[in-house]
Amino acid sequence: MSAKITIIGAGSVGSTIAYTLAMENSGASEIVLIDINKEKVLGEVMDIAQGTFFRDPVSIVAGDYEDAKDSDIVIITSGIARRPGQTRIELTQTNVNILKDITPKIVAVAPNAKYVIVSNPVDIMTYVFTKISGIPESHIIGSGTILDTARLRYGLSEHYKIAQKNIHAYVFGEHGDSAFIPWSLTDISGAPMERYAEIMKGTMDFEPLDREAMTEYVHKAGGEVIKRKGATFYAVSASVCQLCSLLLASSDSVATVSTMMHGQYGVDDVCISTLTLVGPEGVKCKLPVALTEEETEKLHQSANTLKDVISQINL
Ligand SMILES: NC(=O)c1ccc[n+]([C@@H]2O[C@H](COP(=O)([O-])OP(=O)(O)OC[C@H]3O[C@@H](n4cnc5c(N)ncnc54)[C@H](O)[C@@H]3O)[C@@H](O)[C@H]2O)c1
Repeated sequence: MSAKITIIGAGSVGSTIAYTLAMENSGASEIVLIDINKEKVLGEVMDIAQGTFFRDPVSIVAGDYEDAKDSDIVIITSGIARRPGQTRIELTQTNVNILKDITPKIVAVAPNAKYVIVSNPVDIMTYVFTKISGIPESHIIGSGTILDTARLRYGLSEHYKIAQKNIHAYVFGEHGDSAFIPWSLTDISGAPMERYAEIMKGTMDFEPLDREAMTEYVHKAGGEVIKRKGATFYAVSASVCQLCSLLLASSDSVATVSTMMHGQYGVDDVCISTLTLVGPEGVKCKLPVALTEEETEKLHQSANTLKDVISQINL
């Protein structure tokens, strides 16, 4: 498929997504990058376009909203990035106000697009966009914990010294401090984590898995990168480009993304990440997998954390 993809926000995240889409044969034949900083967006587009000789033809332009007309996918990354020590929640109202500004302009020209929300706090931004945009819920996907899930699989693959594709493990909940790992859903090629270590004993010996330390690694991964280089953008861009390829694929796939809840697991009227079927029609449904009582309770706590923020913002 040859898709038109618009990215709003040409900062570290938006530009890296544009670069990745332009360099990989990703299914994007037209990329539009929009930002209020006109010089920056033009510079980014010039830099990316000058490397496109090395792939199949692709059009990439620094545009305005009318250039986004009939986009297949719109990715929203505009906003203010989290500063060291700053919580995602503190950013909320500023980024919500930016979203309220851009939403009517983009939905007027791209009413049929699938919208991928990346700006933080992503679950709140996804909720706000769902409430104000008029776009069908099935076309609104918050990147949610797809990045946290990627970080978890990286961490587990380092621990068990096995390729990430052989690991099934997920992060559920808020993309933030209340995210949690439903350990009951994890396995390595069909064997529960600890069982895998037993099976492999003598061939490969592993330290016992410290679940709390792994959860903390996932929680702190973004902050650790920001502390060292000021922002995170490669891993999130890889996650968002993967999400685009799921939307452009011919069949559905499972991803941990943030979408509106309608009573699943007893959670309602909040956008949060659980296993979700995503594909060419957008969001098909949440997968109602069995969680333990403790995991369900953690999901409720995470949802309540988000609802508490929603109650404090000006929609
Ligand atoms: N969901 C995730 O997993 C994840 C991961 C990393 C970063 N983020 C978030 O992505 C967002 C972007 O991060 P970044 O590092 O690229 O930030 P950045 O500051 O580098 O870029 C943000 C861009 O948004 C632009 N912008 C601001 N207001 C705008 C408007 N009204 N219209 C168009 N553009 C506008 C700015 O000019 C800037 O170029 C932040 O909210 C950040 O927290 C999300």
